[in-house]
Amino acid sequence: MDDWSPESWKGADVRQQPTYGDPAAVESVAARLGALPPLVTSWEVETLKGQLASAARGERFVLQGGDCAESFAECTSDSITAKLKILLQMSLVLTHSLKKRVIRVGRFAGQYAKPRSSDTETRNGESLPSYRGDLVNSLEFTAEAREPDPINLLRGYQRSALTLNFIRGLIDGGFADLHHPEYWNLDFVDHSQNAAEYQRRVESIADSLRFMETLAGVEVGQIDRVDFYTSHEALHLVYEQAQTRTVPRRVGWYNLATHLPWIGLRTAFPGSAHIEYARGIRNPLGVKVGAGMKPADIAHLVDVLNPDGEEGRLALIHRCGAEKVAEELPPILRAVCATGKPVLWICDPMHGNTKSTGEGMKTRAFSAILSELEQAFDIHAANGTILGGVHFELTGEDVTECVGGARGLDERGLRRAYRSQVDPRLNYEQALEMALLVGRKGAVTS
Ligand code: PEP
Ligand code: CO
Repeated sequence: MDDWSPESWKGADVRQQPTYGDPAAVESVAARLGALPPLVTSWEVETLKGQLASAARGERFVLQGGDCAESFAECTSDSITAKLKILLQMSLVLTHSLKKRVIRVGRFAGQYAKPRSSDTETRNGESLPSYRGDLVNSLEFTAEAREPDPINLLRGYQRSALTLNFIRGLIDGGFADLHHPEYWNLDFVDHSQNAAEYQRRVESIADSLRFMETLAGVEVGQIDRVDFYTSHEALHLVYEQAQTRTVPRRVGWYNLATHLPWIGLRTAFPGSAHIEYARGIRNPLGVKVGAGMKPADIAHLVDVLNPDGEEGRLALIHRCGAEKVAEELPPILRAVCATGKPVLWICDPMHGNTKSTGEGMKTRAFSAILSELEQAFDIHAANGTILGGVHFELTGEDVTECVGGARGLDERGLRRAYRSQVDPRLNYEQALEMALLVGRKGAVTS
């Protein structure tokens, strides 16, 4: 590719990177990272690309979800299994309603770097570097914790590897086998108001599996095999570059730190270093769009990131907000369609719907999240495009960060278990309910 190299991003407009006190230490960590084995393989990356191509055609549906930011402290067995369980349950509900295979993409095994609106944070007159995710520094408001430490890049890589290793082991061992959805039950599921509907669907899927197996006389291997792919925001360019490699018998460069890197809204502007980096790798890419980005700029991004019109290469993840999506999305769809390039459309109904409570807590309303998604299905249908996936911030745990949902969590209830270090996530019950409602809407629209 003409003038691209894994470090050509350095010549573009570089934003959202930490300032390290010792640049030589960063170089040395990057060299160590580059010598370690990759976290994912080019085979998996290419398989995912093929699946995303079919989602863009409406044959599959993408469920992308996980924490806003993973934390090193929560790289634990319980937290990882809870995340897998909720994604499995949601995907089962979506498969059942949409009658399509669901591609599961976690925001995990590497979602450790966060963009910030300001380089510094000031409290009581003291200014310190902003928290940029555990890949960079620590949340605690002390000078020591907030100093970016390059060793965190290695720690993040290691925790990504530990997470992925555990996920692969669980899946190979049968944890995700559709014959055994009882493995995915979370302790509090029985108290959930959606438990009965979920159980009905589980039984109906188990019945159909048994029926097909009786007909075929064999296990339905292709159907009951469940894959998980990883994704994270490709934000820290030294980290991403260090894991960008060539592989034998394939052309081009792959980011082997994750299957599906995405570019966040704050770094998707024309001339951005992140776009320059992303255009040269062979992975499928996500790009967040919306919130006032010009449709013409988005169309230009499509041409830059997918000049050959490769299917499955590019997912545009729109995050306009429930109040703006009706106005903002149609011009984006028209501009992108005019490029003639295939695009997978995914709706992120979280990031355009963040609000602060009177007490200054960040929250999102279940109703706004659902409304943006429902509108998105209709807007795509009206414009002749296909909504091929959804992107959520969620957790398999019983946190209280988003308001609303069947249990009617209100602002006063947020304090009980507000644990997010960054954005508010749907809790287990809200996530499952969302899947039930989205499945219902998707089934009538598509
Ligand atoms: C995110 O996905 O956590 C995020 C920061 O999103 P966006 O880039 O869309 O604001
Ligand atoms: Co977020």
